[in-house]
Amino acid sequence: MANHYLVTGASRGIGFETVKNLADNDHLVTAVARSRDKLSSLRGLYPEHIRTLAADITSDQDREGIIQHMSENGLTLDGIVHNAGLLINKPFEDLTNEDWQRQLDVNLLAPVFLTRDLLKFMNPGSHILNISSMGGFQEFACPCVSNQGSFKIHEPWQPHSEYQQHGGIPGKQ
Ligand SMILES: NC(=O)c1ccc[n+]([C@@H]2O[C@H](COP(=O)([O-])OP(=O)(O)OC[C@H]3O[C@@H](n4cnc5c(N)ncnc54)[C@H](OP(=O)(O)O)[C@@H]3O)[C@@H](O)[C@H]2O)c1
Repeated sequence: MANHYLVTGASRGIGFETVKNLADNDHLVTAVARSRDKLSSLRGLYPEHIRTLAADITSDQDREGIIQHMSENGLTLDGIVHNAGLLINKPFEDLTNEDWQRQLDVNLLAPVFLTRDLLKFMNPGSHILNISSMGGFQEFACPCVSNQGSFKIHEPWQPHSEYQQHGGIPGKQ
């Protein structure tokens, strides 16, 4: 049976290819990114399998739009792929407060808020996949050390039971 996945950062790169791969395997995908035109091209490849939502995941209003889309269409999820990411590659001393805030917003806070708000739509046995960065393992002076580097690819996860057990984001210690 087809599963339904939500993939962020779907307009190019790893996210784009992930969506294509899921659709190719007959799954349904909600593809999220800011670039409406690139999302349209993606949908054109698999119109039966892909729905697109142009949204900035750091915007409260846009994330609310994603939740509304789920509610209004009576959708449930079998997985979320938190792929959208931002790396501002500058020497540590040149990173501004805004640079740090922007990267923390995209790489850490948006996936946390989106996960929290989508929990109620997740079917038992759902998966959450956080795409992290090698920046978390290498000696970069960048926020990926503090956020993307701390994310892990989770084991298969039962949202409700484990959420209750740990009272936090499953898999995160
Ligand atoms: N490429 C690598 O070698 C590599 C290695 C290890 C890990 N990674 C990680 O893998 C992920 C994808 O990498 P990539 O190279 O494919 O990245 P990429 O080509 O830079 O694509 C990033 C994607 O994230 C989306 N995005 C960025 N900010 C967003 C926002 N605020 N709201 C919604 N979407 C947003 C972009 O779409 P829009 O601009 O249309 O919004 C784009 O689709 C990242 O998390 C990256 O850290 C990459």
